[in-house]
Amino acid sequence: MKKVLKWIGIIFAGLLAIIIIVLIGLNISTNTRLNKVYDVAPIEVNIPSDAAAIERGAYIYSTTCAGCHGENLEGTAFFDDPTIAYIPATNLTSGAGGIGSSYSDMDYVLAIQNGIAPDGTPLIIMPSEAFWYFSNEDLGALIAFLKSSPAVDNNLGERDVKFMGKVLLAIGAFGEVIYAEVIEHDQLPPEAPPRASTAEYGEYLITISHCIECHGENLNGGPSPEPGAPFSPNLTPGGVLATWSTEDFISTMRTGMTPLGHQLDKNFMPYEEVGRMTDEDLYAMFLFLQSLPTLATPMK
Ligand code: HEC
Ligand code: HEC
Repeated sequence: MKKVLKWIGIIFAGLLAIIIIVLIGLNISTNTRLNKVYDVAPIEVNIPSDAAAIERGAYIYSTTCAGCHGENLEGTAFFDDPTIAYIPATNLTSGAGGIGSSYSDMDYVLAIQNGIAPDGTPLIIMPSEAFWYFSNEDLGALIAFLKSSPAVDNNLGERDVKFMGKVLLAIGAFGEVIYAEVIEHDQLPPEAPPRASTAEYGEYLITISHCIECHGENLNGGPSPEPGAPFSPNLTPGGVLATWSTEDFISTMRTGMTPLGHQLDKNFMPYEEVGRMTDEDLYAMFLFLQSLPTLATPMK
């Protein structure tokens, strides 16, 4: 009997040791990925300073970035879970705690389009894979707006990914979060189509608005990376949008209320930001969604 107990003890201790070694290994692998220094030359972007460009930049900011970085660029405590991680979405102004006073034009391009901080290490969560597609003109206008915005003091502190967070990141529990790893830094993004009410321009808007991050690579539905979020529905004609009119789509994006009377949850579907787009832009997006192949919703 004693012998059996002894063996159970040895096996148990052995398993525990293996688990601890695996966890430490996953932790080290995430550390290596987060500390990797990328040697990337950002593409050259002309930064204008005229009022029209800054206004265009403000439009892009409010529809694409404000949900995470705040209405006044002041930053937010984007993800805060004491056991997993603290990940602030940076204060983008030149106030206390902001990056504005130290950033060069190249630093902006590198952060937004390549997902890389000025010290060469990768940023996490910010969907630069989508922002890589910004037209040169839009990116220039956006940076012009960021640089012209008033300083806000808001010290959010440093990013801090905990042991458990690093383990979860290593096993892919949050999906893609280190976008610098998947962006083809040595390529140029395709030329953006002209601004017009076309499906082609709608595709550009859908791309830079990172809808695929939640609605899936083919937009036919997918799990949101946000903990506790409902399934992100199929946006191809294989889903409920097949029966929607343009007005239905625009009013759903403006109010969050679908034609079926379902109120979307703004914590999980950023309709407030998307709904700030002009009628023309929303129409273009809808045209693109309607032009997609009819795909079935994947198994949840
Ligand atoms: C889904 C949320 C999200 C969206 C949308 C988003 N960001 Fe971010 N952004 C973040 C987070 C989180 C960080 C901090 C990442 C880190 O510390 O690893 C960040 C970091 C940055 C940085 C780098 C700051 C630094 O610490 O050096 C810049 C610049 C930036 N964002 C600009 C933008 C702009 C411009 C847009 C819109 C085109 C945008 N972001 C959209 C979440 C977001
Ligand atoms: C952060 C994840 C996320 C992003 C980014 C996102 N969505 Fe959603 N979307 C959701 C979720 C989750 C729902 C379901 C919400 C609910 O039922 O409360 C949803 C619902 C919708 C619906 C309602 C569909 C239906 O069947 O009722 C539409 C339309 C939609 N999204 C379009 C878009 C478009 C267009 C974009 C890009 C501009 C986008 N979404 C970006 C997560 C997201």
